[in-house]
Amino acid sequence: MHPNLSFEQAPPISVPYRFLLAAPWFGVLAGILLAWVGGDVLGSRWTPEALALVHLIAVGFMLQAMSGAMFQFIPVAVGGNVSRPLLVANVVQPLLLVAALLLVAGFLFGAPALLSAAVPLFLVGVGVFAVVVLLALWRTPATGMTIWTMRLALAGLVVTVLLGSLLAEALARGLALPLIPLTNIHLAWGLGAWALMLVAAVSYFVVPMFQLTHPYPLWFARGFGPFLMLLVLIWSGLWLREDTSLAQASGVLLATACAAFGGITLWLQYTRRRKIDDATSLNFRVAMIALLVFAVSAALMAVQPQWAEDPRATVWLGMLAFPGVFVSTISGMTYKITPFLNWLHLQRLGAPIAAVPNMKKMIPAEAMTGQFRLHVLALGLLLAAVWLPALTRPAGLAFAVSCAWLGVNVIRALQNYRRFRDQIRASVLHH
Ligand code: HEM
Repeated sequence: MHPNLSFEQAPPISVPYRFLLAAPWFGVLAGILLAWVGGDVLGSRWTPEALALVHLIAVGFMLQAMSGAMFQFIPVAVGGNVSRPLLVANVVQPLLLVAALLLVAGFLFGAPALLSAAVPLFLVGVGVFAVVVLLALWRTPATGMTIWTMRLALAGLVVTVLLGSLLAEALARGLALPLIPLTNIHLAWGLGAWALMLVAAVSYFVVPMFQLTHPYPLWFARGFGPFLMLLVLIWSGLWLREDTSLAQASGVLLATACAAFGGITLWLQYTRRRKIDDATSLNFRVAMIALLVFAVSAALMAVQPQWAEDPRATVWLGMLAFPGVFVSTISGMTYKITPFLNWLHLQRLGAPIAAVPNMKKMIPAEAMTGQFRLHVLALGLLLAAVWLPALTRPAGLAFAVSCAWLGVNVIRALQNYRRFRDQIRASVLHH
């Protein structure tokens, strides 16, 4: 295993698993919603369904998986001590689950009371999570860009949730706030300063380790996070001043930064020492290609504003970002995290190391690559459905089935953990 992993501080296995088990089913809900409503639901970013879909993925699928992964990653990979992980997870996860469902229902049914009810749950859930994780990240003796970038990502999450709460209250109470600029600021914090920032932080560590690539160039790992944060701040300032044309210009810089991250990650994959095309590498490749297409599309829309006039153009960007970049990355990571969790906790049971099953035995490889292929098909259909509404229903169905398959693969991994654990316990007792 990697020399920099520290196993002693790992939280109980149920802590990360509960989040990883829950996440895919929000994707299933998103797919079902799309298939149910069908028609021209993707015609504009402002339909109630579009807002519900965005948040099923953002605060359902992504937030669950990303917070669960952080509970595991911070102690094991960067040596941070997350205090009382079981208690924190017991509090945070139900809050986030209920908050996500309330927010989505609030959008879908146009129900101000539900939007308002989601706000305190998000504030407490994310607040507790952020404090505990920031403390762990602050106290760790380890250094390096993964930790710094992760701190930035957490700040990004906090600002995203504060802005989202403000927007939700503004919608619920009819407050006279500039909704469009505030939404543009909220989404840059959510997608850039939180989600992409976290993917970068984790990638500096896991891409070389799992995909056997060279490390990210040091100048890049040092500069990317702070530069991204600076650009999001500039973008926010310009939108606050409602300086649309300069804001769009800063959008081109943001797109360029995204393209640089995507391009470098693909280049690292291309030049790696050993080519392994497992489900993780493949998912990362698709995610980075989606990120490049996102960046080129966003830059083109900023320099040719007539292209951005079509309301579908922004939905196209959303489709590339959510199912394209983040669902793919998270699926790829899930396929590394769950077998590793199993292996880690099995080898702590006291059996000789040779008795601990190989990580490859935790989820069958065909189940992972099969699910990956279905995900790519679903992504293709979703992207096409933005322009061809007749494809909305099949795209939604394919996405629902693909996410359900991911969910079943995680359940299978957990079942295998239990099976191997019982076998090992029985053999330890026997001897
Ligand atoms: C944490 C990750 C989050 C991400 C990545 C995210 C992302 C987004 C995106 C992309 C949009 C624009 C949707 C569109 O243009 O169709 C949006 C809008 C919105 N978000 Fe979030 N969001 C997050 C969390 C939240 C939270 C926690 C809340 C509420 C407590 C929230 C409330 C809202 C509201 C109310 C809008 C719509 C504003 C309007 O219609 O004017 N978001 N979000």
